[in-house]
Amino acid sequence: MSNISSKSKTGGLAGVVAGRTAISSVGSEGTDLCYRGYSIRDLTKHASFEEVAHLLLRGALPTQRQIDTLGIRLQHNRELPNDMRRLLETLPASTHPMDVLRTGCSMLGCLEPEQSFEDQHIVAERLLGVFPSILLYWYHYHLDGKRIETATAAPSVAGHFLSLLHGQDPKALHEHALDVSLTLYAEHEFNASTFAARIATATLADFYSAITAAIGTLRGPLHGGANEAAMELMHRFATPEEAESGILDALAKKRLIMGFGHRVYKIRDPRSDVIKDLSSKLACADSDRRLFAVSEKIEKVMWEKKKLFPNLDFYSATAFRFMNIPTLLFTPIFVIARVAGWSAHVIEQRSDNKLIRPSAKYIGAAPRPFEPIKERKGAAS
Ligand code: CMC
Repeated sequence: MSNISSKSKTGGLAGVVAGRTAISSVGSEGTDLCYRGYSIRDLTKHASFEEVAHLLLRGALPTQRQIDTLGIRLQHNRELPNDMRRLLETLPASTHPMDVLRTGCSMLGCLEPEQSFEDQHIVAERLLGVFPSILLYWYHYHLDGKRIETATAAPSVAGHFLSLLHGQDPKALHEHALDVSLTLYAEHEFNASTFAARIATATLADFYSAITAAIGTLRGPLHGGANEAAMELMHRFATPEEAESGILDALAKKRLIMGFGHRVYKIRDPRSDVIKDLSSKLACADSDRRLFAVSEKIEKVMWEKKKLFPNLDFYSATAFRFMNIPTLLFTPIFVIARVAGWSAHVIEQRSDNKLIRPSAKYIGAAPRPFEPIKERKGAAS
């Protein structure tokens, strides 16, 4: 389908092919996910998030030398300019961390503007390196008044994030689980935030503007914010039995259950099995068995009652919880990963650009004569 013809068929542009991409595909049946032809099953098994980021940005898997030098550049890119530190200290402690990242991205665009499109890979790698630092500098400053050093010895983005967050080297299982989560979150075709980035890019705006637009778009609970909302929901139930009656009650009231359903997947989300498996392993290593049991009960009820399956956000929420990551940082982790995909789309859009400017079907008033203000009804009041 390529034309908007009726509200029911095209609400939210569902089914509309809005452009071409060589970056990722959900398959013709919408049941698989491949980045540049490689299945996410293989990538999560055999590649690190950094290798995946290179694949998305450059189009091919890296050699050992390329991944080593990318690692060094990303480590260097973890540094925060002093003006950025000052800005992060000025933001209210009550700011949502997604707003911190959106503001931080915009600020970096002022401090280190993209001078020409030739700089695009440099900016992409800067953002990949710096987002955990922006987030966790702000977090520690406002939580416990600490001005942290954002350099860590951790070679991976996942290890760096967990080290900065907890102030100690992460457990190997946690680092692995976060690394896999970053790969799962790294890219997803023409999702809402990527599309926002492409629209901004198509106006020939700078890199930072495109990524700032994407972060703002990701924030909502129908998109990236679903993992936070799913966690809040699970926390409400002390037992699987409570979860069952709570979900049945919510469904009877026609409420949305966050972390379920998807626009492009209709049978299952291929990312969900991978993250559920990891979440189950993390649950076994955690003293609190309640949470995983509650999550499985919700999954069962949603399938039995609505034939809806968990999407990536549902079991990511529990996986992040088992890594002792605060709920408010869940969606920012999505940013830290997805900046790889967004950046690849900015670069791809620029390589064959055309302004994205669709038309709208007008449903307003028919043409009518203008009434001067004094003659308008009710003008006296
Ligand atoms: N809970 C309850 N009912 C649901 C849900 C849900 N999570 N998702 C879909 N439905 C129902 C919906 O109410 C509708 O029922 P009816 O036909 O009776 O009106 C039917 O399923 C079809 O749903 P839809 O809203 O037309 O589907 P959509 O393609 O517009 O929406 C979605 C996709 C992801 C926005 C939606 O499934 C949803 O709101 N899910 C919860 C939010 C969520 O988990 N978002 C994260 C998506 S994955 C991560 C990402 O890429 O951002």
